[in-house]
Amino acid sequence: MKKVAIYPGSFDPITYGHMDIITRALNMFDELIVLVAYNPNKHYLFSVEERVEMIYEVVGKNNGQLRIDSYSGLLVDYAKKVGANVILRGLRAVSDFEYEFQMALMNRRMNKDVETVFLMTGYQWFYTSSNLIKQAACMGGSVKGLVPDIVNKKLMEKFGRPKGRVK
Ligand code: PNS
Repeated sequence: MKKVAIYPGSFDPITYGHMDIITRALNMFDELIVLVAYNPNKHYLFSVEERVEMIYEVVGKNNGQLRIDSYSGLLVDYAKKVGANVILRGLRAVSDFEYEFQMALMNRRMNKDVETVFLMTGYQWFYTSSNLIKQAACMGGSVKGLVPDIVNKKLMEKFGRPKGRVK
């Protein structure tokens, strides 16, 4: 059976941590769909279109193995629609665990044919997140090395002149 995995997330914006997961997942699955999904608990900095565009710019256009998409409904419904059998999530420090565990169990309850698989994030990215990156960038902190240059540029465009930084 073909192994089709969805890698869902907010990707607000995509980071090197996400890219590490994508690169490793491409060695594991026949098809990988990077999915900009909707998390109702978040307020987004970038629009869905901007997030999808940034992902295209850093991971390349769709090809036979890798696809980029967006969806605003339930993940398990999307999985059914595209015939995916795996939901892939990256795990960072311990704090991610409880939330990820709850989400995996809820998704399994709604669709038992889809397994959630976790990949440990590379150690360089263990303590960073899109949220922290946005916070630092918003106050003029450097996030170079944590996100691709194109994403860094978009963050700077979004925030304009650094705010709140004391010289
Ligand atoms: O990057 P995030 O914000 O941690 O990703 C969370 C996301 C978007 C994967 C999650 O909120 C999600 O799956 N949203 C789609 C709606 C859904 O299926 N929710 C039920 C999950 S139990």
